[in-house]
Amino acid sequence: MTRVVAELAGLDMRFGEGAGAVHALDKVDLLVHEGEVLGLVGESGSGKSTLGRCLLRLLQPTGGRVALDGDDITDWPERRLRKLRARMSMVFQDPWSALNPRMSIRRLIEEPLKLHTQLGRAARRTEAERLAERVHLAAAQLDRTPAELSGGQLQRVCIARAIATRPSLIVLDEPTSSLDLSVRAGILDLLGELRAETAVSMVFITHDLATLRLIADRVAVLYLGRVLEEGPTEAVMDRPAHPYTQALLSAHLPADPRERPKRIRLEGEIPSPLDRITGCPFQTRCPLVEKQCRIGRPPLLSAGPGQTAACVRLIDGSNRIAA
Ligand SMILES: Nc1ncnc2c1ncn2[C@@H]1O[C@H](COP(=O)(O)OP(=O)(O)OP(=O)(O)O)[C@@H](O)[C@H]1O
Ligand SMILES: [Mg+2]
Repeated sequence: MTRVVAELAGLDMRFGEGAGAVHALDKVDLLVHEGEVLGLVGESGSGKSTLGRCLLRLLQPTGGRVALDGDDITDWPERRLRKLRARMSMVFQDPWSALNPRMSIRRLIEEPLKLHTQLGRAARRTEAERLAERVHLAAAQLDRTPAELSGGQLQRVCIARAIATRPSLIVLDEPTSSLDLSVRAGILDLLGELRAETAVSMVFITHDLATLRLIADRVAVLYLGRVLEEGPTEAVMDRPAHPYTQALLSAHLPADPRERPKRIRLEGEIPSPLDRITGCPFQTRCPLVEKQCRIGRPPLLSAGPGQTAACVRLIDGSNRIAA
């Protein structure tokens, strides 16, 4: 088994106090292995960004443990985390707001090198040029400002900054969602290249399951702050075990255009993240709900090699929704 780069154990994140508290993450366990791309998928509000931020300790979780490269960083103060920042980075959805509009592309790419390495001025310059080339930006673009570049090019700048210090972990939070369809594939190709050439691990956050098939080795499905299913991408996409994953996938067109898309219609209310959920969080919308689902928290059960799902129906194999 490959080395574990990052680990979340029983991770809890609450925003606010008392009755108005939002329980954004509810005892999440997750491992990220060296060199893998872990896809994190879920509807809006399921806790994807919060998970990414906790993983990089941009947020301090309210419970549980975060470890990076074997170090338990859960309670590290910001001063101590600063030294660690070179080992992890984040790429956001919107490259326009992620980059200082007054800086040249060259300075933007040099910035993490200046902050986190001992490289001198000349070495930084050379390194920034190498990084620009690495993300397929033309050398002439280094002397431009963000306003002169396209969204796809700006996202390449963000990726160059994210890889500048050769981190072990990069969290990409919907990195292609704000881009035109025509440039998305280029960004995914670039990430694929980086993954093939380095040992960097990536957590790729998205709403879009189809994107995950192109980039992720493993997928974790998040719903109201809980991981409901996890496993190798192909297994989860082709044989989704949790009724929620089945419903999520059925909302997408089949790979074969001659096939008629079958949609599983979900009824019922989505519980508010303010509510304390007893039992399975999907119980209010699940077509297979039974008494047991409302009682205890369903444990993650094996659903195939490397695949687990938190559904009690797995015990007797009655977890398939008839389409
Ligand atoms: N700083 C905050 N203060 C209070 N509540 C927050 C904060 N950040 C997130 N939340 C709440 O936590 C829950 C999870 O939010 P999060 O942004 O992680 O979801 P997400 O899956 O990334 O959604 P999206 O797909 O819309 O980006 C939501 O209910 C959200 O309103
Ligand atoms: Mg988000």
